Amino acid sequence: MPAEGFSAIEETESPAAERSRPARVIVIGNEKGGAGKSTVAMHLTVALMRMGRRVGVVDLDVRQRTLTRYLENRLRWIQSSGSRLPMPEIIRVDASEARDLDAAEAEESEQLENTLGRLRQSCDFVIIDAPGGDTFLSRLAHVHADTLITPLNDSFVDFDLLGDVNPQTLEVIRPSFYSEMIWNCRKKKAQESRRPIDWVVMRNRMSPLEARNKQKVGEALNNLARRIGFRMAPGLSERVIYRELFPAGLTLLDLTEKGSNISFTMSHVAARQELRDLVIVLQLPEFEGVEIGF
Ligand SMILES: Nc1ncnc2c1ncn2[C@@H]1O[C@H](COP(=O)(O)OP(=O)(O)OP(=O)(O)O)[C@@H](O)[C@H]1O
Ligand SMILES: [Mg+2]
Repeated sequence: MPAEGFSAIEETESPAAERSRPARVIVIGNEKGGAGKSTVAMHLTVALMRMGRRVGVVDLDVRQRTLTRYLENRLRWIQSSGSRLPMPEIIRVDASEARDLDAAEAEESEQLENTLGRLRQSCDFVIIDAPGGDTFLSRLAHVHADTLITPLNDSFVDFDLLGDVNPQTLEVIRPSFYSEMIWNCRKKKAQESRRPIDWVVMRNRMSPLEARNKQKVGEALNNLARRIGFRMAPGLSERVIYRELFPAGLTLLDLTEKGSNISFTMSHVAARQELRDLVIVLQLPEFEGVEIGF
């Protein structure tokens, strides 16, 4: 049964014209663990709230609940500092405990449908953080995606999430199970004549070194993008700050808040620019003609 989490402490008003539009569902997905899904989900949530939009959050990593813990840390920080930081609306979804597979899947489907139904009514955007692994709930969430963001660790090791690439010629040999799953989600959505899935792959933890490897990774990704049908986003660099922000529940966009105790450096300015570039590349119709203001 879905249990309530905590809800927004700071109400933001969206322009009236936008409110009549159904909320955009953004899924952050990659079956591989540790690619940066929860980090991206949290930063995007705060970025959209700072642009005055109402955001709902669904954490489908029902084991680790990293995003939920990140937001709980944020709430604790708000309470102890007295700052008015924006918070999203969160609805908790649990894995079914039913032993029968059909019953478990039916229960999980109903929970997710109800959750999305409610958040679509009250929010402009719904962010779903998928787990690092293949679960029924995760597959179901991908079918609901209007935008799918796949962060990918910036190395050849993580490529097989998308497809087999010949490391010498950089040719695509075959798409992966994950890519095929997205293909099926796209077909299903098209049959139901719902919005198509805009799939954006972003590199994460990019290192300033290894220029040659970086270039090869980029080339191979472009080949995959053409073959599999996704767009590339410029991505985020490797920065210690991402790990430091989690315990306080803060993001790069909150560093100038009073009492954050983390000094704002040039590296953080560059990191914010990377985030801004990510939001621009997403080409969210909700922000057409609007300056990305954070
Ligand atoms: N750009 C980055 N620079 C440095 N550290 C990063 C970056 N992105 C993510 N991390 C760190 O990498 C670790 C894994 O990130 P995160 O939890 O966001 O990945 P995930 O894909 O959600 O993992 P899981 O599959 O377990 O859910 C975290 O400690 C996070 O702080
Ligand atoms: Mg995660």
